[in-house]
Amino acid sequence: MNYLAPSILSADFSRLGEQIRALKDGGAQVVHFDVMDGHFVPEISFGEPILRSVRKMTDLIVDAHLMVYNPADHVEAFAKGGADILTFHYEVLPGGGFAYGGINDPDMAVEEGMALIKKIHDAGMKAGLSIKPKTPWEVVKPFIPYLDLVLVMSVEPGFGGQKYMPESTDRIRAIREEAKRTNPALRVEVDGGIKTNNVKVVLDAGADMIVAGSAVLGGDDVLEKTRAFMEILRG
Ligand code: DX5
Ligand code: ZN
Repeated sequence: MNYLAPSILSADFSRLGEQIRALKDGGAQVVHFDVMDGHFVPEISFGEPILRSVRKMTDLIVDAHLMVYNPADHVEAFAKGGADILTFHYEVLPGGGFAYGGINDPDMAVEEGMALIKKIHDAGMKAGLSIKPKTPWEVVKPFIPYLDLVLVMSVEPGFGGQKYMPESTDRIRAIREEAKRTNPALRVEVDGGIKTNNVKVVLDAGADMIVAGSAVLGGDDVLEKTRAFMEILRG
């Protein structure tokens, strides 16, 4: 079953409860919760206090996407706050510093990433690993057997409302092919620039969890927009 994961980064926070109800009524299964620290990405979004409120508002799956440095420091708080899935970025691992002139020591990154996945599982959540558009997709390979989810960023993380990067389609396909061999239950999530007119492309490539921010929560008619996506996701 394909999941729709609307990103509340694009929500009207003065009407958050009402909008989350519309997501559920429209058939979405997941709330995508974008956490930004002002360092890994330029802006600051929201964190645990809002998470606790969202948890009270809904029984949808809460999918926290940490665009933050030092994600290990926040695992406990996100588990307590009610996140069901916790996704961190490969690029923030000290050994995985592709995009930052970091150490770029893949063996070290595997060790660090595996420890973090274990920590997330021990805290009772599902674990996700995300890669930015310019990070080679192959870095996720060694983690796939241990992960619940891989999140492919199809825009540079940081802002809603950007345009889908078409080269993401092949990356999704490659990860799905790899997962068929090493972890068939893996969710492949795509995040950035997804609209009703391009979602079919990513579904066909093997994505089964679709983030949509501005296309669902930008402006009014959240219920209708959610329904339109779900019609396509149900095939
Ligand atoms: C971007 C966030 C996304 C974003 C998606 O940094 O991770 O989840 O909100 O928004 P749209 O769908 O508008 O590209
Ligand atoms: Zn996101």
